[in-house]
Amino acid sequence: MTTYYKGFPQSTREEKLHMVNLDELEHEAKYVMPEAAYYYVASGAENEWTWRNNTQAFNHFQIVPRALTGMQNPELNTEFLGMKLKTPVMICPIACHGIANAEAEIDTAKGAKAAGALFAMSTYANKSVQEVQSAVGDSPRFMQLYLSKNWDFNKMVIEESVKAGFTGFFLTVDALVSGYREANLRTNFTYPVPLAFFNEWNGGKGEGQSVAQMYASSAQNIGPDDIRKIKEIADVPVIVKGVECAEDAMLAIGTGADGIVVSNHGGREVDGAPATIDVLPEIAKAVRSCDHRVPIILDGGVRRGSHVFKALALGADLVGIGRPFLYGLALGGAQGVQSVIEQLNKELLIDMQLTGCKTIEDIKHAKIDHINYSADWGISSTSRSVMKPYPVTKENQLTGEAADAVSGASRH
Ligand code: FNR
Ligand code: LAC
Repeated sequence: MTTYYKGFPQSTREEKLHMVNLDELEHEAKYVMPEAAYYYVASGAENEWTWRNNTQAFNHFQIVPRALTGMQNPELNTEFLGMKLKTPVMICPIACHGIANAEAEIDTAKGAKAAGALFAMSTYANKSVQEVQSAVGDSPRFMQLYLSKNWDFNKMVIEESVKAGFTGFFLTVDALVSGYREANLRTNFTYPVPLAFFNEWNGGKGEGQSVAQMYASSAQNIGPDDIRKIKEIADVPVIVKGVECAEDAMLAIGTGADGIVVSNHGGREVDGAPATIDVLPEIAKAVRSCDHRVPIILDGGVRRGSHVFKALALGADLVGIGRPFLYGLALGGAQGVQSVIEQLNKELLIDMQLTGCKTIEDIKHAKIDHINYSADWGISSTSRSVMKPYPVTKENQLTGEAADAVSGASRH
């Protein structure tokens, strides 16, 4: 279940995951990832307020159930920039999947393909774009760009990615320098496994580098002109990732972006930044006012099917997950990644049935109420971290066959 790269333990698990919710994986991943790698993932910038608030802010919005709709059998399939997808959930770009599983991005790509989800691969990936192409052929996938100061490097990344079947780019603009990440300082985290694109560039500087060092070699002065420069190298869609205000959305679209990702980098950059779900309505309204509408992706703190539902209802076309799929990769490899996506799908289908939404397009017209306070945020009462030993007494126990929790069938 473990292999070692220069002494760094890498999970080799390949199994379907059985979970009650995604939050459990954050706890269980501790048992298969070394400490520094785990806290590189399970952490945010400074006091981690934005990291936590990304999830809690979904409670600012309420899904209004609908009855008497006569609808059944909701469907998750959707289209995005011409790609046919089986789910509106997509895999966000995350660096160095080798900290979670020895198969790294190859397994992530396989899991995303099996779930019919869009996969975005990081410039800081361990595996090469050619290895991913060999593993998954023509699966829906984009490459995420961390522009280097060196445009020869950028040109190499863009050209190699397109040749290897990546049909578009996410240009990440919200991480020009690393946020102040105390976990990385405390654990002295550096990338323990080589980063494919850096093996021959930057003097092989990927392995052994800190996030701050990697960012130091990337571009800090990213501007609208960079979208044009990317498109001159490869005329494919460029989606700007890391937008948190209408001004940036309009600037990106006005200078040629084919889409935007409403994101604050999972709370890893500016601590105190607004939750992505809180700024989505304003941004979606601004995008609709443009003379040509471009698709919107939201990521950040998405842990429930209801979060996916709310994001779609408030203007997103796809909803990205980060940390949860990486925990799934550590715990189950490709099948683990697939299990994570399918868990969100399962929860989303319930909300679609209970609101009369047959299709993803229907969700975009669903009724969402906005409240100006965070409703009580509590994890479910049977979560392991809060569940107290049940006062088991002979009188309060069912005898005979236990109720079947899955089908709901029980003796009473
Ligand atoms: C990221 N993210 C990120 N984004 C990006 O554009 N390129 C990258 O290489 C990375 N790397 C990365 C590493 C780790 C460990 C994390 C947790 C995140 C940000 C990512 O794409 C996404 O915006 C957030 O992770 C979404 O929030 P959640 O779902 O993780 O809460
Ligand atoms: C991070 C970078 C790699 O968030 O995006 O760790």
